[in-house]
Amino acid sequence: MTDAMDSEQIIEPGNNGTRKPSKIKRRASAEAMSAAQKEISVSEFFAKNRHLLGFDNPRKALLTTVKEAVDNSLDACEEAGILPEIWVQIEQTGKTHYQVSVQDNGPGIVKKQIPLIFGKLLYGSKFHRLRMSRGQQGIGISAAGMYGLLTTGKAIRVMSKISPRKPTHFYVIRMDTKANKPDILNGGGEGEDIPPNDEGRKFVEQNKLHWNEVEHGTCVTIELEAKYQRGRGSVDEYLEQTAISNPHITIHYRDPEALEKHYQAVTDYLPPEPKEIKPHPYGVEFGRLAHLLHDTTETSLGKFLTESFSRVSPSIAKTLVAAAGLGVRSIPQKLARPEVEKLYQAVQDTKIPAPSTDCIVPIGEALLLQGLHKVVPGEFFASATRPPAVYRGNPFQIEVGLAYGGAPATHRVSRETLEEMLGESDARTLRQFLTVTFDSIGPDAADKFIRAAKVRPRVSPGNLTDKELASLHETLQTISVNDGQTMNVYRYANRVPLQFQAGACLITQTVMGMNWKSYGLPQSRGQLPRGPVTVMVHVASVWVPFTSESKEAIAAYPEIQKELRLALQAVGRKLGTYLRRRQKVKQEGERRTIFLRYLGEVATAVTNINHGDRDELYNRLLEVAKQRTALADVQLGEDGKPLDEEETLDLGENVIIVERT
Ligand SMILES: Nc1ncnc2c1ncn2[C@@H]1O[C@H](COP(=O)(O)OP(=O)(O)OP(=O)(O)O)[C@@H](O)[C@H]1O
Ligand SMILES: [Mg+2]
Repeated sequence: MTDAMDSEQIIEPGNNGTRKPSKIKRRASAEAMSAAQKEISVSEFFAKNRHLLGFDNPRKALLTTVKEAVDNSLDACEEAGILPEIWVQIEQTGKTHYQVSVQDNGPGIVKKQIPLIFGKLLYGSKFHRLRMSRGQQGIGISAAGMYGLLTTGKAIRVMSKISPRKPTHFYVIRMDTKANKPDILNGGGEGEDIPPNDEGRKFVEQNKLHWNEVEHGTCVTIELEAKYQRGRGSVDEYLEQTAISNPHITIHYRDPEALEKHYQAVTDYLPPEPKEIKPHPYGVEFGRLAHLLHDTTETSLGKFLTESFSRVSPSIAKTLVAAAGLGVRSIPQKLARPEVEKLYQAVQDTKIPAPSTDCIVPIGEALLLQGLHKVVPGEFFASATRPPAVYRGNPFQIEVGLAYGGAPATHRVSRETLEEMLGESDARTLRQFLTVTFDSIGPDAADKFIRAAKVRPRVSPGNLTDKELASLHETLQTISVNDGQTMNVYRYANRVPLQFQAGACLITQTVMGMNWKSYGLPQSRGQLPRGPVTVMVHVASVWVPFTSESKEAIAAYPEIQKELRLALQAVGRKLGTYLRRRQKVKQEGERRTIFLRYLGEVATAVTNINHGDRDELYNRLLEVAKQRTALADVQLGEDGKPLDEEETLDLGENVIIVERT
């Protein structure tokens, strides 16, 4: 065993079953190898593995940077009880360099914490607690700063102010990645204070800082190698989707082309403060239990159990301790491994009430509906919020909103924007450009557009002639691709839109695994259903189980999947009812059209024979036809059974039906 580890020799089994070393020369000795064995700092690790944090390409790096800063700002404002107002500004500073500036009106950060927050990985206030927030790891913003530094050599700049009377602290911070610690570059290593007067304003101007006058708040500026491109997975899309899930925030956004976009809050209702909870015993693994026992300051096992965990009352603690063959007065730090094992087993075998779930703050059905209606065009909207549930001892809650119909994004794109997007695109073909740029356009729909616009099928997006461009734009505006259009799925975790790794995410997998045909949407097995539908799914939890540190996809816990399915079914049923009624109205219309088409001819033919009054006959026939079609409608429901009008329309609460003009 040690031989095998010491050198890379080839080992063959000997005659008696033991392994006999072959004669190959040893390459390195244990001593030689020991010289190369040393600690790896977290920052060095993540600098090499930047894709784990969402910095795998320049386009995504831009989005991740904006997202980390905005998420932090929203968390800070909400934690302080402030209605968030955020300023996001992106400027191009070189061919592949961009500067991102994000400011908030949050509580600000005290001076001595600023360098650690922005110049050290794994430093934060959210990791050690179980409380619903956007951030949880303590990596986000310092990683963005590190990426900026690695790609442009420029340090992160931070301004923060905690009260109107206090100066604004200004720091230029460069992370020392070897040591994972901050180096402060300005004010002789102490940072600088900007006074709240004209002198201060001059300083801001001279240093080209972006600071909107606020009583308190924080502004982060990072320069990084990036690429700005609109469309799917862009900063624009992230901000728009953030506005849907956060109806209480205001965002001012200035893009690299100096276009401004403002998202105004649709409510001044700040979500209630989520409560912090203790871990539930069911969610604690053996190793963690052993650690907690070792590290606790409690002196008795009974007290340790009631103080460290949620839902462990003194009587439950007694039951647990008895089941493990221990005493409430046992000293936690002194338990031997077999005793810890028994205690762990006792926890699994004892019935402990589920954790309290009032620590989750959902968006709520009404606000969800409002948010969705504001941003997604449609004729029918429904939402559903499930009661909270628990996975691995962690409370979570699922919400779903659905929008159906309305003009697709292709109808809304202006010719200038289309031209710009074509110019910026790195897609190789027009077909690829269409599927990547527009949500819900699949390859079939793209082909349909290309054929209808009579554009060269293999043309690269940047090489369209003026005529082709005009024709493509017209086609996009006029052709409806409802058949080829697939469902749009917006995924959210703790109100943050998730834009990458859709395939690896439990949300997408659950949507695909459902039978949407029963709700009136065509669907091929195991695929997203087709039709002009947008579904937004929100997973809220005190600890969201992401598949990686970049927080892009949700891991497949069966408890979460079950709730997802129930919530999707709730809105699916409402959609089904609505679509069936629409179908019925359509049938009624078609039948009437057929009657009308023949009535005129019948009336003329009959008066030719009996020489009666044609118009009078026509009117009488018309009356009969109207009665007949009304009657037929009542008899003909989707399933052939009589349809009760009242019942069909009863869609329950939280549904919006937009009257079509
Ligand atoms: N704009 C801000 N205003 C106030 N405090 C902030 C702000 N930005 C960051 N912080 C503080 O800095 C800490 C570190 O932020 P960072 O983004 O690195 O990690 P996080 O948000 O805790 O977790 P995650 O890695 O999941 O984003 C936060 O926990 C928060 O306490
Ligand atoms: Mg964060």
